[in-house]
Amino acid sequence: MSDFSFVRGLRCVTCDAEFSLDDLTYTCPACGPVRGTLDVEYDIGQLRAAFIDELLKERDDRTLWRYHELLPVRDAEAVLPLPIEVSPLVWLACDPGFTAPKRLLVKDDTRHPSGSSKDRATSVAVAHARELGKTAIAAASTGNAAASLAMFAARAGLGCYIFVPESAPAAKLTQIRAHGAHLFAVRGTYDDAFSLCAEVCAQEGFYNRNTATNPYLGEGKKTIALEIWEQLGFRVPETVIVPVGDGCILGGVFKGFRDLHEIGLIPRLPRVIGVQAEGSAALASAWRAGQDACMAVSAETIADSLAVAMPRDQVKALRAVRESGGQFVTVSDAAICEAMHVLATRAGLFVEPAAAASLAGLKEAAAGGHVGLDDEVVLLLTGHGLKDIAAADRAAHNNQPIHVGLDLDEVTAALHP
Ligand SMILES: Cc1ncc(COP(=O)(O)O)c(C=O)c1O
Ligand SMILES: [Zn+2]
Repeated sequence: MSDFSFVRGLRCVTCDAEFSLDDLTYTCPACGPVRGTLDVEYDIGQLRAAFIDELLKERDDRTLWRYHELLPVRDAEAVLPLPIEVSPLVWLACDPGFTAPKRLLVKDDTRHPSGSSKDRATSVAVAHARELGKTAIAAASTGNAAASLAMFAARAGLGCYIFVPESAPAAKLTQIRAHGAHLFAVRGTYDDAFSLCAEVCAQEGFYNRNTATNPYLGEGKKTIALEIWEQLGFRVPETVIVPVGDGCILGGVFKGFRDLHEIGLIPRLPRVIGVQAEGSAALASAWRAGQDACMAVSAETIADSLAVAMPRDQVKALRAVRESGGQFVTVSDAAICEAMHVLATRAGLFVEPAAAASLAGLKEAAAGGHVGLDDEVVLLLTGHGLKDIAAADRAAHNNQPIHVGLDLDEVTAALHP
């Protein structure tokens, strides 16, 4: 047992079969790639005895590895000094334009090195790949996970193979190319790219960073929950609102709170509310129908990061909402654009559509009575506004530039019409 990580093993979310950390098992062979995603388990007794909350007070490390006992990488040498640091948790000190809880915080995950929450998962995946001695790593992605992986694979000196839908926003494609990754722009959807990437990994022996398939990614995402707990002074809010595509971030955030609860560090679990785009709402539809499996949808939304036909982390995502007493809500593209506009113009927060879905989702959740006005609520902002300039432009369409010559009178006339 290493002192660095108290990880114990892997367990299938459906049949409870256990798997050793020493083999690179991605999903349970008996339950298949969607039903058979794996939970990472820790030695809870050892975590209790370590008094993690006391250790943290002494710890200087501002990266997510400050929680190394609760992360699945056992070899400290495999961890690279990547600057994925505690992200700001700040009050949303503005009128969101609807009746909202007064204690409203945003967890600003747009500031990570590649501009999205995906850096958390990549940090863990790259360390894990290095621990296993892998020299190449691959991922399918709507764009952000790939941009993140391309960046950190470059830093780690790993070969990097990326599969994205051809339609991914230009900025995300540019990020991937800039870091020198091999970029396959797939003529198809994200779901098609996902399957192709899995086949290539199996054939070539690449480390597979596909969301949900890789059980270690959610462990990176769970540091969002650990940070919120620590930033609030070792307590948790009533509700956390998370934008959802495959459901990995949602499942990861819940896992963080569940780990804290199991260790005995929090007395209750916060509700997690998942927000999906109306045009890509496979999980919300399954939830409303009381089903524990998703039907594929056509996945069309301005929030490209949420455009997923068949959510791969559906078991963990549905479990997160069920076990936390949470909810799924859906939001229209118009509501997402409005939320981008409100965040940018009233709160000074420039986010991509998927991230703005959190605020739009809060409006839905409040209207539906799923959030109380006295609740303390955290909105997770997952991706930076520069990720998708076309969408940002759409949200800012009412604010057109005033074209003027080098003429003070023209400016004066415009200022005082
Ligand atoms: C900015 C952003 N928000 C939300 C999500 C949704 O995350 P998940 O697919 O884990 O549900 C993604 C995934 O690509 C993303 O890039
Ligand atoms: Zn199984």
